[in-house]
Amino acid sequence: MTIPYPSIQTLPPLGAVSPPSGAQRPRLTFIGTGYLGATYAVCFAELGYEVLGVDVDGPKIDKLAAGTLPFHEPGLDELLHKNLGTGRLHFTTDYAEAAAFGDVHFICVGTPQRADGMAADLSYVESAVAALAPHLTRKALIVGKSTVPVGTAEWVEQLVHKYAAGLADVEVAWSPEFLQEGYAVEDVLRPNRVIFGVKTEWARDMLYSVHKGVFDLAATEDREVPVVITDFATAELVKVAANSFLATKISFINAMAEVCEATGADVTLLAKAIGYDSRIGNKFLRAGVGFGGGCLPKDIRAFQARAQELGVGEALRFLHEVDLINQRRRQRVVQLATELLGRAYGPNGPDLQGVKVTVLGATFKPNSDDVRDSPALSVVRRLVRTGAQVTVYDPEGIENACRDVPQATYAKTLNDAVAGADLVCVLTEWEEFRNADPQALGALVAGRRVIDGRNCLDSAVWVRAGWEYRGMGRPVVR
Ligand SMILES: NC(=O)c1ccc[n+]([C@@H]2O[C@H](COP(=O)([O-])OP(=O)(O)OC[C@H]3O[C@@H](n4cnc5c(N)ncnc54)[C@H](O)[C@@H]3O)[C@@H](O)[C@H]2O)c1
Repeated sequence: MTIPYPSIQTLPPLGAVSPPSGAQRPRLTFIGTGYLGATYAVCFAELGYEVLGVDVDGPKIDKLAAGTLPFHEPGLDELLHKNLGTGRLHFTTDYAEAAAFGDVHFICVGTPQRADGMAADLSYVESAVAALAPHLTRKALIVGKSTVPVGTAEWVEQLVHKYAAGLADVEVAWSPEFLQEGYAVEDVLRPNRVIFGVKTEWARDMLYSVHKGVFDLAATEDREVPVVITDFATAELVKVAANSFLATKISFINAMAEVCEATGADVTLLAKAIGYDSRIGNKFLRAGVGFGGGCLPKDIRAFQARAQELGVGEALRFLHEVDLINQRRRQRVVQLATELLGRAYGPNGPDLQGVKVTVLGATFKPNSDDVRDSPALSVVRRLVRTGAQVTVYDPEGIENACRDVPQATYAKTLNDAVAGADLVCVLTEWEEFRNADPQALGALVAGRRVIDGRNCLDSAVWVRAGWEYRGMGRPVVR
């Protein structure tokens, strides 16, 4: 039966559907065990579900099955160990096993930016569906979690019919994901909302059944998890609209930082002052070196590309500006470095030959090892091009960073990294950097110069310790 829209509910319906496998609770597969899928697999096992993580990357699956996370996410290691021990959590590369096991299959594969443009590369989604569908022999629900261009769920439905060859009654739903790396465990176990993009009551009720563990946990903590039930297109758009809004907020304050730099104003005070207005709010209003990661940059580009295809490119033209503002902040760090070091900014760009620069931070945000489209690494690449000798330190991201930017030198500790530096740039706001003692670091460097690319240091304390300090969108503090 099809269902009416729109619908927003805060409580699950009373009627429950029986999992086609005959199991008591739906058995779940998570296809693609990266940051999203592995976190989900582990957390849903923790909530009591029988779970199978599926990936084409054999070594990754072997690691997970052996209890080793292939990435850093606070709190997830412990839960992985614990749930492997319960016997509820397994991993495989075998799609036949996945099809035989699962009632609900979550698509969690990557949707990166295409190499030839701004659009999303959906080849991983297609290959996952093409690999799973022919093995399905009973009713099942395929749920998209990956972030995709609007229209993808309808296309996945067509793919399922093509590859399943009508052998099984397979339905599709879309349930976009909002987890934040660094807080992923908490976000999955305690989401602030869940979106069910569905066409039928069966799909809706199956999704309720899949999330019963989330609702039950909320009930024990006297919370409610709002459920928004939508059509496919709205569900897909919720995610990209949310990310576009967040990216716009960051670029808005970074645009204000540019104006502050031209006028001697202080963007940190400006942000504080406007953030007191609850209509504006103070979250995501910190000026700095901008956003990065595996989501925001590629999502706003894919959204523009899709809007163009749909004939509404004009509606999202502002996102182009959001992207440009964000990119300019990365170059601003190099410009500040050139100024602080008293070097020339010639026709071939800045010349920092013979200068030793230490970059603190490689990941796109703290508490993660993810360096995808990291502003910090983008600055490292630019600094390397100036001829500077660049040393990088990051608490969790060195391994990934080494692979991406082998031209830089990597240090094992903060102290090793800053030893002999002419300039220190803080580009990811790790607690270790925010709490660093400027006196102690001052004794190790060759020159006490610091660029605070995240406006996360106490400028007065650093200046008192004899450092020349430059923030983003802030006047020179003496
Ligand atoms: N990382 C986040 O914080 C986050 C948050 C919300 C949404 N998302 C979205 O989730 C999706 C996945 O992101 P991610 O960060 O986990 O990516 P990721 O690159 O870490 O993981 C993707 C995984 O999919 C696997 N894969 C590729 N093709 C496959 C196939 N045919 N079958 C099985 N596995 C396959 C890869 O081997 C990899 O392990 C993206 O669409 C992303 O935009 C990510």
